[in-house]
Amino acid sequence: MLVTGAAQGLGLSIAEEFGAAGYRVVLADRNEAALQAAAAGMRERVGPDNVHVVAADVTEDASVDALVQSATSWAGGLDVLVNSAGVIARAPSDEVATDSWQSVLDVNLGGAFRCARAAFSRLRVSPYPSILNIGSLGSVLGMPMRLPYNASKTGLLGLTRTLAAEWGQFGIRVNAITPGFIDTAMMRSGLDSGALDEQLMLHRIPMRRLGQASEISGVALFLASPAASYINGATIPIDGGTTIDGTFF
Ligand SMILES: NC(=O)c1ccc[n+]([C@@H]2O[C@H](COP(=O)([O-])OP(=O)(O)OC[C@H]3O[C@@H](n4cnc5c(N)ncnc54)[C@H](O)[C@@H]3O)[C@@H](O)[C@H]2O)c1
Repeated sequence: MLVTGAAQGLGLSIAEEFGAAGYRVVLADRNEAALQAAAAGMRERVGPDNVHVVAADVTEDASVDALVQSATSWAGGLDVLVNSAGVIARAPSDEVATDSWQSVLDVNLGGAFRCARAAFSRLRVSPYPSILNIGSLGSVLGMPMRLPYNASKTGLLGLTRTLAAEWGQFGIRVNAITPGFIDTAMMRSGLDSGALDEQLMLHRIPMRRLGQASEISGVALFLASPAASYINGATIPIDGGTTIDGTFF
């Protein structure tokens, strides 16, 4: 299996979960130093032969094509693709620079497109293929100050559904999860910058706590498993109930 954005956060947690379950795991990220450090730790836990590292930038066609080629050669095929590479930018919507708009869209949405496109021919010949895209609360809620991020994450659900409809006939299941506030570096950057207020967030989450990365990775493993064999084109919220809460009074 191949996971992008695997140097840290949700991508690394998902890689660890699949590794512990016996998958041979390819970790990809553009941050090569962090990627190598993450892989070193993981090799100790799941064995040196079960982890392969490829430095790759999901915004570049050639880099993604080389990544999928390397992953397939190393593992002898490709069964699961998890698109977790992502970036966020925060600004008032009328001040978003075109560069920022394009770069966020190009990682979060374009990256998933490029990886899925490159992986298709390999997944098609796999006995049990699936793709998982990592959306966000921004996939389903309007969240001020995060216009390119929310547009990219909303688009990711359209990409998920379209690929699921088109590739289901080949047995390739394509699903998305939409995590709520999960305690990772990306979320902490929002707290540190003052863009997020932890007490307000906790008040807004019915379970009154942040999510942990392991609460995402377990669902990712399930979605790739035979137990999820008829789940295709679905979006699964993992947000402690944030998006179903109607307590607005
Ligand atoms: N943490 C949360 O609360 C949360 C909530 C909802 C959704 N998400 C989504 O989950 C995914 C992972 O988030 P995270 O919290 O682990 O973030 P993170 O910032 O900790 O990790 C993201 C990783 O993606 C990599 N990356 C960025 N651009 C890349 C590129 N062009 N090519 C290759 N790798 C690239 C980064 O180097 C980093 O290692 C993201 O798509 C994010 O939008 C996170």
